[in-house]
Amino acid sequence: MTEQLWWQTGIIYQIYPRSFMDSNADGVGDLPGIRSRLDYIQSLNVQAVWLSPIFPSPMHDFGYDVADYCGIHPLFGTMADFDALLADVHSRGLKLLLDLVPNHTSDEHPWFIESRSSRDNPKRDWYFWRDPAPDGGPPNNWLSTFGGPAWTFDPHTGQYYLHQFVSQQPELNYRNPEVLAAMLDSMRFWLDKGVDGFRVDVIWMMIKDEQLRDEALNSDWDGFNPYDRIQHNYTHNQPEVHDLIREMRKVLDAYDERMMVGEIYLPNDSLMKYYGQDLDECHLPFNFQLILAPWKASVVRKLVDDYEAVLPAGGWPNWVLGNHDQHRLATRVGPAQARVANMLLLTLRGTPTCYYGDEIGMENVAIPPHMIQDPPAVKQPELAHIVGRDPERTPMQWDDSPNAGFAPEGVQTWLPVAPDYKTRNVAAQDADPASMLNYFRALTALRQSEPALITGSYRSVDAGMEDV
Ligand code: GLC
Repeated sequence: MTEQLWWQTGIIYQIYPRSFMDSNADGVGDLPGIRSRLDYIQSLNVQAVWLSPIFPSPMHDFGYDVADYCGIHPLFGTMADFDALLADVHSRGLKLLLDLVPNHTSDEHPWFIESRSSRDNPKRDWYFWRDPAPDGGPPNNWLSTFGGPAWTFDPHTGQYYLHQFVSQQPELNYRNPEVLAAMLDSMRFWLDKGVDGFRVDVIWMMIKDEQLRDEALNSDWDGFNPYDRIQHNYTHNQPEVHDLIREMRKVLDAYDERMMVGEIYLPNDSLMKYYGQDLDECHLPFNFQLILAPWKASVVRKLVDDYEAVLPAGGWPNWVLGNHDQHRLATRVGPAQARVANMLLLTLRGTPTCYYGDEIGMENVAIPPHMIQDPPAVKQPELAHIVGRDPERTPMQWDDSPNAGFAPEGVQTWLPVAPDYKTRNVAAQDADPASMLNYFRALTALRQSEPALITGSYRSVDAGMEDV
């Protein structure tokens, strides 16, 4: 085997910046807050920190609606704060990944403001503008992931624009080469600063069917989420997306040891294509199977075996147990199995990604109806318990002081602090040798000291028992 790179040997730790550490008492986490917690991050023996978006944004989707790809939202701090964080991360031998959101911008991005200004604006074609259907309705049957149609009518120019998330997230048109060029420039802006790479948001949705054809009904629809009522065969995983990803990869490859990990929810056969035919696409296409599969030993064994069996030659595996879009691990599988799951995550072959707070077993927090903020839950209150993502985005539980040490006493935090913070917190678990946190650290230390756990091969062993 060739020498392993940092993103193969190391662990990625995802921080949701709004909820990690609030340094200026406004109830929202920020960059100086993260910087003040680097000792803790380092104590976890992780290699890289991935920050969910920190860019200027009207926050309709909590930062995934970007209004400037090359700036810092004042809520999180200044560019100087960012530079200081990056320098400190690097001085500790750690890496920093940013969240690139290329599929859509905010409707307050200057590109969209121009595009919407008139039908003949030079940036009109940077987004998807279409005439109404003959009945005045949307141009096709595509749906928004967050509920309702994927098209919004703009009376100013009498056309609809496309958005697969909230209406304030218009989709960019990557069939126009200027759009890709602009996005690649945004990547270079951060790479020139020394950022080590990107997690790329909904990378598998970046290009749509050229003719914008209607999507077929989904005969397997389980009746829950209306978004699943149709198949997404013209909006997801279009063959041309691979050309885009190769261009993004070329930008990364012009620098030293930078990487990208793509957000992709697809079955194995399609997922593997995102490594690229010549391993020239994503360094890591996220593998979310441990999140999505039922938590049963026999199921997990099979999915690990199947994944290992179809990895392309030289394709590096990766595993994920949680993120800001999925219910908390400890809630999904229970507190005891959350430890088992972490052991699996940290000993399987391939790069693990850990979501902040999962190392102390944080659970979903019930959000009182008047405090629900996540767009799919606001838009579909009857589905909030399924589609709402606020419960897994609550403030990090640092200690047993009011607001859990995330923000000073008396501050109204943007989402409620978990009711169990007095007993479930970093300080308490630090002091307890048998805690989940110390178990996590022991595993990450073991992983670092045992090459077999990083570069070894994998084979499952039959225990002869269904749940072992
Ligand atoms: C991705 C993000 C999610 C966001 C969506 C739209 O799935 O992980 O949080 O809402 O894309 O950007």
